[in-house]
Amino acid sequence: MTTEKPKRRSRAWFEKQDRDGFVHRSWTQKAGHPPDEFDGRPIIGICNTWSELTPCNSHFRELAEFVKRGVLEAGGFPLEFPVMSLGETQLRPTAMLFRNLASMDVEESIRGNPIDGVVLLMGCDKTTPALMMGAASCGLPTIGVSGGPMLNGKFRGKDIGSGTGVWMMSEMVRGGQMTQEEFTEAEGCMNRSSGTCMTMGTASTMASMVEALGMSLPGNAAIPAPDTRRNRLAQLSGRRIVKMVEEDMTMDKIMTREAFENAIRVNAAIGGSTNAVIHLLAIARRIGIELTLEDWDRIGSEMPCLVNLQPSGHYLMEDFYYAGGVPAVMREIQHVLHRDALTVNGRTIGENIEDAPCYNRDVIKPLDNPLMNNAGIAVLKGNLAPNGAVIKPSAASANLLKHRGRAVVFESIEDLRDRLDDPALDIDETCVMVLKNCGPRGYPGMAEVGNMPLPSKVLQKGISDMVRISDARMSGTAYGTVVLHTSPEAAVGGPLALVRNGDMIQLDVHERSLHLEVSNEELARRKAEWVPPAMPTRGYAKLYVEHVEQAHLGADLDFLAGSSGAGIPRESH
Ligand code: FES
Repeated sequence: MTTEKPKRRSRAWFEKQDRDGFVHRSWTQKAGHPPDEFDGRPIIGICNTWSELTPCNSHFRELAEFVKRGVLEAGGFPLEFPVMSLGETQLRPTAMLFRNLASMDVEESIRGNPIDGVVLLMGCDKTTPALMMGAASCGLPTIGVSGGPMLNGKFRGKDIGSGTGVWMMSEMVRGGQMTQEEFTEAEGCMNRSSGTCMTMGTASTMASMVEALGMSLPGNAAIPAPDTRRNRLAQLSGRRIVKMVEEDMTMDKIMTREAFENAIRVNAAIGGSTNAVIHLLAIARRIGIELTLEDWDRIGSEMPCLVNLQPSGHYLMEDFYYAGGVPAVMREIQHVLHRDALTVNGRTIGENIEDAPCYNRDVIKPLDNPLMNNAGIAVLKGNLAPNGAVIKPSAASANLLKHRGRAVVFESIEDLRDRLDDPALDIDETCVMVLKNCGPRGYPGMAEVGNMPLPSKVLQKGISDMVRISDARMSGTAYGTVVLHTSPEAAVGGPLALVRNGDMIQLDVHERSLHLEVSNEELARRKAEWVPPAMPTRGYAKLYVEHVEQAHLGADLDFLAGSSGAGIPRESH
């Protein structure tokens, strides 16, 4: 592979007048393209995660057509290509297991093909980081287009949010406050249009991160999927990527350290998902930006939450869009943003948000009257999490942010499900629920099971939150006093593996500490007795567990950190 990157790399395929050039041109013409369509025009790859197995991305074929329209208008040649799609609600054991695999698909599909610039069509949770990671490892001019959130869910005259409403109503059924019939009826009312979850869950958070990084046109994150302005934004993005190729506006010019710092602050201000921590760490490592777990606390934890959206607040993404969306939030916090960070439209963040209006101050709160102060992700350290764990204070109960309680330990998710509602389970609301073996290697794939359901006997007392600790992640739509991403995880012998029933655990979010009240000597004795869990023995799962990094590093595969660029591979024949 050559290291030199020509300005228009597609010419290496199409301009040669030899046998290879014949093959590349001839097989492109067979799709109905006259040769002048790829005779020097920028070739734009449209990376599509459409799949009927990913309901949140089911409208992406239509969206791609609008991108193509824009590419053609600007003088480019669009070629759409599929990559592995990751449907959060269908894929087992967890879509996160395949985020890195999909990112490899994206990276190799871009590098191996005659592509000069890329449009990423991203929607359901993991599709956004997977595409951003893969594209970052190539570094071509790239623009993100998100699928957009669904319209607000409507159930019996009230708004209900996807994900958040599921967690809430299922606990109501278990607590006896809702009937099974009502619960079933809500299924058809919650998710009623195309698009992604309309709470500030992971999909909306990551779409907001893409916008805050400067990797999409302003407004991209919040336009509802069925709103025709979403299609217009796709068309404008298609026009813009052609210009980006002409300007050689590569990803590294936009995804700078300053851009990531902006994104961390925006995540706090929108009440964004804890999953953004892992995904942004992984994306940063792909493009060579030094970003650490500690940066999240240092840069973002003292930020106020301004956006009154579920799961931290009340409203939903449709309301957020009408209120002004991400540009209005960024304008409100512009004093702490790097205003000169460049964005894909060729303007700076500061220029993009200069006149961004806010139309609803109950949805996007003013800086002097936020929804919550000090609401960014907090990073906890201590003998239970030497490499860190995270908590989202804006989704937690204020009275539990400092808590000491007796550990009730579940060795796996199956163990939790088997015993949760056992009347003999020795637990009350003062206890600390501990779930092991749900981290990157342990599940495998670090599933979203960290927001453990509460035991029925606790729910029936009207209690709705308890301190919960695990090495898992939780859905961005979830809430509670939930400590996540504990690193090192239990499956590699981290201290979490050594916790036993009856141990006392201290959580102090203000002090950023997570402490297990067990002596070092006793922990060493338990470690000597510890037996590692069995690991997958073949296929991608084997590759994954052998190479996945811990949560505090972004849970990428160790050999994927960094970039291989977009040099031209050697010919295939
Ligand atoms: Fe796809 Fe929530 S399940 S975005």
